[in-house]
Amino acid sequence: MGEHIVEVPAPAPHVLMIPVPAQSHVNSMLNLAEILCVAGDINITFLVSKNIHDGLLLHANVESRFSNYRGFRLLCLPDGIYEGKIITTDDVAKLNDSFKSVAEPFLREVLLSLKSNWTKTKSPFTTIIADGVMSFAIDAAEEMSVPIFYFRPVSASAFWAYFSLPQLIENGEIPFSGDDDMDVAITNVKGMEGFLRRRDLPSFCRSGIRSPDFEMILTETAQTPRANGLILNTFEDLEGPILSQIRTFCPNLYTIGPLHAHLKSRMAAVNPNSSMNSSSNSLQEEDRSCIEWLDKQPSRSVLYVSFGSVTVLKKEQLLEFWKGLVNSGVKFLWVIRPDLVTGKNCDEHNKKSPADELETATKERGYMVGWAPQKEVLAHPAVGGFWTHSGWNSTLESVVEGVPMICWPYFGDQQINSRFVGEVWKIGLDMKDTCDKVIVEQMIKDLMVDRKDDFLKKAEEIAKLARKSIGSDDGSSFCNLDQPTRLLVACTS
Ligand code: UDX
Repeated sequence: MGEHIVEVPAPAPHVLMIPVPAQSHVNSMLNLAEILCVAGDINITFLVSKNIHDGLLLHANVESRFSNYRGFRLLCLPDGIYEGKIITTDDVAKLNDSFKSVAEPFLREVLLSLKSNWTKTKSPFTTIIADGVMSFAIDAAEEMSVPIFYFRPVSASAFWAYFSLPQLIENGEIPFSGDDDMDVAITNVKGMEGFLRRRDLPSFCRSGIRSPDFEMILTETAQTPRANGLILNTFEDLEGPILSQIRTFCPNLYTIGPLHAHLKSRMAAVNPNSSMNSSSNSLQEEDRSCIEWLDKQPSRSVLYVSFGSVTVLKKEQLLEFWKGLVNSGVKFLWVIRPDLVTGKNCDEHNKKSPADELETATKERGYMVGWAPQKEVLAHPAVGGFWTHSGWNSTLESVVEGVPMICWPYFGDQQINSRFVGEVWKIGLDMKDTCDKVIVEQMIKDLMVDRKDDFLKKAEEIAKLARKSIGSDDGSSFCNLDQPTRLLVACTS
């Protein structure tokens, strides 16, 4: 009798995912985790700090959402990072340091214990996917011979500007001070000559010194080529020329975005009747009453105003914005997070908070919530514009829905995103570095009234490209997802 050769299927890959413990980083990486779960047989351990862990269970419904995927588990770091729910921009470098001090030894311990138990039946971590500012994960991965992919939740353009910081320093273009002429052209970010100015560079370049944020981004970004691959939440038709620049240093670059829309379409393909094909990764409770309000508004009449999860405004800035909004005569839905305004309790003479004033004066045309179901808001037919801080998630969510933007970037990558929106993609107006109520009023009228049709047309053209990129008929992001997935599987053998 001939010998039967029984093929034992390779065990499913087991990926350890480590996001930076902040809303938008967790948001994008959780989308990536879910997309990998939908796309194939995979085990994922998602490592988060305690505050994120609790927020995800409470508001993002993670337990029941991921119960469909048998290989997914949420792993909580043994120590809490920033028990307070929301971090501010000042905390970013500190957060990174404290996360590192907790996560680094934990990661080594976990990798080591699993490595010593490495058998065919057990499923050790076969790959790590870490946020691209965690070079400690690369060190640990190299030591244990586990392949590692980097994931950056920012635009390719922002990443490329970060990667170009050494050239900018070498040529004396940075750092500069906020008092210098901010319209001076920047020439040492390849592919952006001709439209990049000082004011469009990441905000930490303007402090006049090399701040801790600056140093952290500089040193961490320079480590990227050490990773086995780089995954970006963008798509080829949006940032092609910049992606070509990045590929000269990081050839294994996979663009699989816009992740939230890509995930939604893959879920719909697997289960067309599922009510869960729009995942919310919100760490805060969403006020859904604004959807009912939007239902009553005419098509494309409302300006949605939201500055993301960490931006803060001074009371004077908020009042200028409010006056500009009201004077424009345009209807608006405004997200006023409880911690949006700094120092609001300092004014002893005015016991009324700016939010109260706003509420009183804008009853006719405005609606305010503390936290909105943003993706749903942007998809609503009543929304005709988005006044945003140009965080990358918000930008992509607007791009996908064909909603033109007014950009008021606050920090980090937002300065560069807003330049691309206004000058390169031409799907909005860049309001950076001003809070003047007259300019606010003019820009809102320009976007929502005077050139409304032109902006909507251009935004729809780019939205079509976004939808094409995630389409199963040869969409670039759809096809690109196969490559890291194949590599993840290859890492198991
Ligand atoms: C931060 C940085 O600011 C951003 O520039 C960087 O690209 C990522 O990290 P954040 O400020 O929170 O993120 O902005 P953004 O990336 O736009 O993410 C905000 C997320 O919160 C979006 O997914 C948005 O849909 C969600 N959101 C915001 C809500 O769900 N409801 C809201 O009311 C406001």
